[in-house]
Amino acid sequence: MCGIVGYVGNGDVVSVLFRGLTNLEYRGYDSAGMALQDQGEIKIYKTLGKLINLKNELEQKKPEIKHPTSGIGHIRWATHGSPSLVNAHPHTCSCGRLVVVHNGIIENYKELRAELISKGCNFRSQTDTETIAHLVADEYAKAKDLEMAVRNSVKKLQGAYAICVMHKDVPDLIVGARKHAPMLVGVGDGENFIASDTPAIIEYTKRTIYLEDNEIAVITKDSVKVTDIEGNIVTKKIEMLPWEPVALSKLGYKHFMLKEIHEQPDVIRNVLNGKLYDIDAPIALNEVKLDRDGLKKLNKIQIIACGTSLHAALVGKYLIEDFAGISVDVEASSEYIYRKTTTDSSTLVIGVSQSGETADTITAIKQARAKNSHVLIITNRPDSNMARLADSLIPVNAGIEVSVAATKSYTAQLISFYLLAIHLAEIKGSLDNSYLKNIKHELIQLPTKIEEVLSNTSEIQECARKFSSYKNFIYIARGVNLATAYEGALKLKEISYINATGYAAGELKHGPIAMLDETMPVLSILIPGGITYEKVLSNSEEAKARNAKLIALTSSTDINIDALFDIVLRIPQVSEILSPAITCVPLQLLAYYIAEFLGKDVDQPRNLAKSVTVE
Ligand code: F6R
Repeated sequence: MCGIVGYVGNGDVVSVLFRGLTNLEYRGYDSAGMALQDQGEIKIYKTLGKLINLKNELEQKKPEIKHPTSGIGHIRWATHGSPSLVNAHPHTCSCGRLVVVHNGIIENYKELRAELISKGCNFRSQTDTETIAHLVADEYAKAKDLEMAVRNSVKKLQGAYAICVMHKDVPDLIVGARKHAPMLVGVGDGENFIASDTPAIIEYTKRTIYLEDNEIAVITKDSVKVTDIEGNIVTKKIEMLPWEPVALSKLGYKHFMLKEIHEQPDVIRNVLNGKLYDIDAPIALNEVKLDRDGLKKLNKIQIIACGTSLHAALVGKYLIEDFAGISVDVEASSEYIYRKTTTDSSTLVIGVSQSGETADTITAIKQARAKNSHVLIITNRPDSNMARLADSLIPVNAGIEVSVAATKSYTAQLISFYLLAIHLAEIKGSLDNSYLKNIKHELIQLPTKIEEVLSNTSEIQECARKFSSYKNFIYIARGVNLATAYEGALKLKEISYINATGYAAGELKHGPIAMLDETMPVLSILIPGGITYEKVLSNSEEAKARNAKLIALTSSTDINIDALFDIVLRIPQVSEILSPAITCVPLQLLAYYIAEFLGKDVDQPRNLAKSVTVE
């Protein structure tokens, strides 16, 4: 969603802000802007659409940009008011001396706006953000101190915000504040940064201070001061970012999504590293802070997540119930938060999120915490808000994921669930030892098998070419791969805008079969050796009888499959229970190549955001 970057220093302000925004653009946005402190003036530049438009605008206005020494930049994903120039950030007070950029939603903005209008403020946009600009300016007129004005203002705001404020009369000083929206300070030498997320600053510094809710940061080029809402100094720890700037490079791949799909074997090795190193040794999952007795007695787990993470959660449910015999509910966070749940202090609540910033999941986790549940978070962002709410934290170590469509973070979540389910089974003694060893052995083999899939994608590309003109798809599967069908269909929808539905194969004949004809391809996930293979095969026959074109995703070597299906996408031999960690890969690639053939914006699909920070 929206992104913020601020900079004070002797560097090239425009380029630092622009690089910062570029490194945030994967989050999704529809307009961009920056405000520069330039020789006693505040200069504002805004454009609609992609950052290239802002770049062109800045290029065009180069003659008027003299020597900026600080600035704030923003990419906006419209919530209040359409994506338009007037609604793009930065916003100013009536006289234009004070500028603000903002992530989040101010819930009481209408009341504040009415009050400020009655005081003579001149509003130009439909945004909630403009209210902050007028409010801080009003407070500044009284306090004559920008930090104090921000402090007095945020006390009046309800909702979520990360804001950066500059004032013409206080050159080269940025005040940042946050509540329920992330914000951090990047500490440099003779320069300092402030941003909504680490990629914005990683090219310049790894030294980071994470702000907590209700904290206010004041940065100049030589100083960083953090205070609480009452103005008391807060001593903050400087943390080192674990990522290298190279994580934000495509490394020769056409898209980040393709690069991230190809990173999956190493990602799995990373997740397994130190946790599964010997098939005879128990899984080392010290991150789970419940004691063995607590885990032994555990009989209720609830997993809360959204989107792709919700699909990983469905695989997690299957694994935990199968391996450890513990009952697991899975629910979309957006549903969980608006009903009376049975969560209690004996429930283990697991939140799954690649970004760790998804507003619905954060709210759900807070609700679970309020019921004294133990909260376990599985996330790719150990530095996120969600991670900070965790009693136990499993970081999935997938590295930064730039493509909006989640791929490697999904696989990493799946592997974390395998480890967790085995860990629970080992504590409960619910699985036979030789079965456990086999599963562990196969887990260790997974990266090599995925490398095999990635080393020959010609069949998948051929399939994408043949099917890219179809408007509707059904993906069918049973058992542990049902979530794979959901996830494969979601990937296709997200990046190619083709209607695709994941369906339980056995449910086809209870309704969706009515839609089948030669215009509706059916993709079946068939893993032999397990309990669902024959059933999915006969469900595929039913589809064939309705003239549907058939695609098989299978590890079967049976040549009869080639006769039944129009295209067969083969993966290496794998047990059914472990197959979701492989079957997801060809489906990611299929979605990728279809979107690529259709010329879609693969890494930044329309309307989508990488971190969904609004409910
Ligand atoms: C799809 C995708 C989304 C996210 C969802 C939840 O590719 O990435 O469906 O999974 O928005 O986000 P997180 O996992 O960050 O909580």
